[in-house]
Amino acid sequence: MSLRYPHIFAQDRLDRGNVILDGNRFLLANGHIGYRGTVEEYGREEMVGLIIAGVYDQYQDSWRENLALPNPFLFRAYKEGKEISIRTEEPLSHQVKLDFDRGVYTRRSSLSKLIISSSRIVSHDDDSLLFTRIEVEAKEEGEYELVYGIDTDINEIHGPHFAKQIIENAANRLCFKGKTNEGKILFVSAEYRGFAGIYQKEDGFFHAKLELKPHQKLSLEIIARVDEDALGEIPNDRYSVLAKASIQAFARKWGRCKVIIEGDAELDYELAYSMYHALILGDEKRIRSIAARGLSGQTYKGAIFWDTEIFLLPFYVLANPKIARNLLLYRINTLPGALAKAKSLGYEGAYYAWESQDSGLEACRADNVTDPVTGETVVTYFGTKQIHISADVVYAFDRYIEATGDMSVLKEGGDKVIFEVAKFFLSYSTVDDQGIYHINDVIGPDEYHERVNDEAFTLALARRVMRILGKYVDPKSLSQEDQEIYNRCVEAEFASPQTRNGVIAEFDGYFDLEDIDVASLKKRVKNPQDYWGGKHGIATHTQVIKQADVVSLMALCPEDFDRESMERNYDYYLSRTEHGSSLSASMHCLLGAKLGKEKEAYQFLRNSSGIDIRGAEKLYAGGVYIGGTHPAANAGAYLGLVYGFLGLKEIEGRVTFDVHLPRRIHSVKLRYCVGKEVYEVTCDQRGVVKKKEVRV
Ligand code: BGC
Repeated sequence: MSLRYPHIFAQDRLDRGNVILDGNRFLLANGHIGYRGTVEEYGREEMVGLIIAGVYDQYQDSWRENLALPNPFLFRAYKEGKEISIRTEEPLSHQVKLDFDRGVYTRRSSLSKLIISSSRIVSHDDDSLLFTRIEVEAKEEGEYELVYGIDTDINEIHGPHFAKQIIENAANRLCFKGKTNEGKILFVSAEYRGFAGIYQKEDGFFHAKLELKPHQKLSLEIIARVDEDALGEIPNDRYSVLAKASIQAFARKWGRCKVIIEGDAELDYELAYSMYHALILGDEKRIRSIAARGLSGQTYKGAIFWDTEIFLLPFYVLANPKIARNLLLYRINTLPGALAKAKSLGYEGAYYAWESQDSGLEACRADNVTDPVTGETVVTYFGTKQIHISADVVYAFDRYIEATGDMSVLKEGGDKVIFEVAKFFLSYSTVDDQGIYHINDVIGPDEYHERVNDEAFTLALARRVMRILGKYVDPKSLSQEDQEIYNRCVEAEFASPQTRNGVIAEFDGYFDLEDIDVASLKKRVKNPQDYWGGKHGIATHTQVIKQADVVSLMALCPEDFDRESMERNYDYYLSRTEHGSSLSASMHCLLGAKLGKEKEAYQFLRNSSGIDIRGAEKLYAGGVYIGGTHPAANAGAYLGLVYGFLGLKEIEGRVTFDVHLPRRIHSVKLRYCVGKEVYEVTCDQRGVVKKKEVRV
């Protein structure tokens, strides 16, 4: 593998061991649909995937998950009945590239009898379209058979999701129509231009038999589209025309958020790659949110976690506020689900789903983790006890409004979200004899310690929710009964977590647990896939935590802490944090940069920005496949640079900087949005040296 500068991610040889990982690394997407980075001849086993955002389905009583659709780009070549493919032979050369400035995937494989090349785009211009141009060049004379069409033998983790499906053929077109178990209708239609193959009903593919001479080249263009409910029109334009429109549209997206780092080419490259993976997930047109593994597959049921509000939303506030707004509107639309969840657990107000899908009902299940050896369920309480999710949603509303000055989200239902979440925290709390509110039996961001009391992150965020309620919601707009609840909310005094030598205990009793560092604890690992938390996890009875928790709190709410407290806590938790979640590094970068810990913060930034290039993240946790891209870490890397090293702050629609660049970075040029305007700021070691408004 080689890292090319500028902005091409390339692989110069076939890496059979990493086909699944490369499907993520070479992903194309446009916020609505994603297409995994796999070659044309691959199929279900290699996890080819066309993923659509926001559509979910449940098969029998297995996990409800997002949909994978049939693959319109299947293409296989045969000679004398033998497949000529990287599946069946070692290629003489093989190259795959992702041009992430332009959103174009290309491959070229030189095989024994053919060269197969292709170029592919998921359109940023019309987000229901994806198209490819495949070229074959014969190496020897003879008859070749080319087979192509829509492959319905797809990879689904908890499928099959199509209860009924048909493929229809008309001339050089195919149309898949499927009805999911939940009754949704989806179409994948495609036009195949070039080889004049004959459609064969028996296998559902086009077959073209062609006499080719050495060096003779032929090409096939496939223009495909994905539709929900009603079938749309395939455009007559050629691949080159559609490609141009997509590249221009993608350039406009980049034009609002481009970052150019001088003096550190590796960071520049990695950050652009990370930003690519975050940027391809935002949907400007629809009120939808972003799944924890984006559009790279069905991991985590395609569900939306706190990842979106805490990591992706601040990125989109600067990169495209309209998308940030849509992320919030999604939470407004799913408020009924949050109200229902709270009610079902005996609470009042809104308890957002830990794993949220289209309706906002809880998709997280108690059987989320499996013991990799015995196959037994490791019971976890993420869905019922990770209540900070509701506060994270409210935090995001505040952050968005502070940055953009756009109060209209409150009128659209944001005020209701804030009130209902505040009400939920009130109802979840227990009040002691002194009238202090305690939040017991929860899970903080550190998921290894379950069902703990007075968890620092949760308490502080609950306190903040009440502040935000007071800031934005006018009690006079509420009914008499709600006004009483409102008053109790804004007056509630929450417990302060225990402290020792200035270190905040993550939860009540934390300091009584075995004090061991991560490296020593690792020696107790029996199976690399073991889950460290839960009842029997190796970290459960120790102070080792999964991910930034108190550190996240300080990174997100620095104004609530003094420098000394931040330093003590950062230092204490550093050796005790496993970074078992990809979310952890960027929070450490943010706080480290604020504290002037340049070297460490820089390393955390690289850990976050290099996450999907390195591809070293766990593919399994407690026996469950968790592979895919890492959008929150991708956006987190951006946050580390922009909010950490550039010290960007947003207050009432104004942006300020407090630049402390690591020495190796000469300058950073950053484009960002404030409302509809786009600015370009240049910062170097001295601070901001230039700022101008730009037209995109
Ligand atoms: C992390 C959570 C995160 C989820 C989805 C888990 O491993 O602990 O904080 O929300 O993954 O990314």
